[in-house]
Amino acid sequence: FTYTAIVPAAGVGSRMAADRPKQYLTLAGSTVLEQTLMRLLEHPAIGQIIVATAEQDPWFSQLLLARHPRILRVNGGRERADSVLNALQEVETGQVLVHDAARPCLRRADLDAVMTAGLHPQGAILASRVRDTMKRGNGQGAIATSVSRDELWHALTPQCFATASLQQALTEALAAGATITDEASAMEWAGFHPQLVEGRSDNIKITRPEDLALAGFFLQQS
Ligand code: CTP
Ligand code: MG
Repeated sequence: FTYTAIVPAAGVGSRMAADRPKQYLTLAGSTVLEQTLMRLLEHPAIGQIIVATAEQDPWFSQLLLARHPRILRVNGGRERADSVLNALQEVETGQVLVHDAARPCLRRADLDAVMTAGLHPQGAILASRVRDTMKRGNGQGAIATSVSRDELWHALTPQCFATASLQQALTEALAAGATITDEASAMEWAGFHPQLVEGRSDNIKITRPEDLALAGFFLQQS
């Protein structure tokens, strides 16, 4: 196998405000996390999948996929970057991709595209173009200026990098106290310019309650 996939799944889902973290909510006959894992398990170039969950997580071990031979669970950390860094210690392949547990609508063509582009030394991320007119606020609830959307993208996942580069970038960026909200931001901090691979905008991150029904709808589309 050329690739290992890391699935950060140690968040609490505060914006979802459900009775459990959003990755364990029911979706299309299983759970959000299992739907996400199935998208990755289906890919022939992905060997191991490392899922980072909270240390005291009582839900993961109850999933059918918890005992899958290609799935390994590790402890997550306080921030998403800590969860990814923990999982990176178990990666044995030269290439790694990181994909949010909360993005179950990933399509195979997008996965293929970002995996191929990620072989570039700078790495690659899936991204989608901003559609709306963008405004910068003035901090008092009014518009300061309009911002051209020509160069603006939504950062999605998977994000794909050389394992050693990502590990070094994340380690050093965290030690320096940099604000790291995705893997690309650690790579940027280290001076890399990851490729933007235009992907589908239905690769949503389930974040708020209304997103769950939307994901169910997207999964029904062929
Ligand atoms: N995540 C993680 N470890 C953390 C925080 C987040 O592995 N310490 C994971 C989440 O489980 C999710 C992904 O990172 O799959 C994206 O994070 P987000 O959508 O922000 O999820 P939550 O942090 O759970 O949600 P919220 O911010 O609303 O609490
Ligand atoms: Mg979060």
